Amino acid sequence: MMRGKFITLEGIDGAGKSTHHAWLVEHLRKRGREVVATREPGGTELGEKLRALLLSEPMHIETEALLMFAARREHLAKLILPALDSGKWVVSDRFTDASFAYQGGGRGLSPEKLMALENWVQEGFQPDLTLVFDLPADLACSRLAGTGNAPDRFEQETRDFFQRVREAYLVRATRYPQRMRVIDAGKSVGEIQKELEVMFAIY
Ligand code: TYD
Repeated sequence: MMRGKFITLEGIDGAGKSTHHAWLVEHLRKRGREVVATREPGGTELGEKLRALLLSEPMHIETEALLMFAARREHLAKLILPALDSGKWVVSDRFTDASFAYQGGGRGLSPEKLMALENWVQEGFQPDLTLVFDLPADLACSRLAGTGNAPDRFEQETRDFFQRVREAYLVRATRYPQRMRVIDAGKSVGEIQKELEVMFAIY
């Protein structure tokens, strides 16, 4: 049995990641892959309960990071690793790069603490491919404001916060160029889909 691929999608809130997540899952299914679509925080029954807390309850930044990784531990054990072992592909709307970008870049939690949690929970496991949907913070904030949806605890953050989150994603993409691809989320949805089609034709 060939092990499946683990693909993660990242980017600041408002970059359009969720639209591309849904499209990519369908695209891979059309190409004959068995695909599990999931998200973080969440992806399991317990993880979704933790997500509800994370998106609404004020908490210490280390509590936030610990809960993100607690949800991730459950996600890996119950869903991600069993699916990959049975040959399925897993496409996750966010994973650990989000913790380095939001809790690290955004909130200022030290990379050492995040790396300790990453090592504990993942023991070296990493996505096969990570797509970073990149957009200037100003644009992302105005897109978010335009949706009319009530903003969650992260979406209520300032433009400066999103600027730091974006920078943290870009720094990581430079550090891990073989795993992470940056996609210009300022392009139209159609243009981005074409780019993804080309990328996955050879993947
Ligand atoms: P998001 O994908 O933006 O959900 P939605 O599209 O439904 O709003 O994810 C929820 C939030 O969780 C997002 O603002 C980023 C945050 N987050 C972290 O801060 N750290 C993490 O490790 C993860 C996975 C998410």
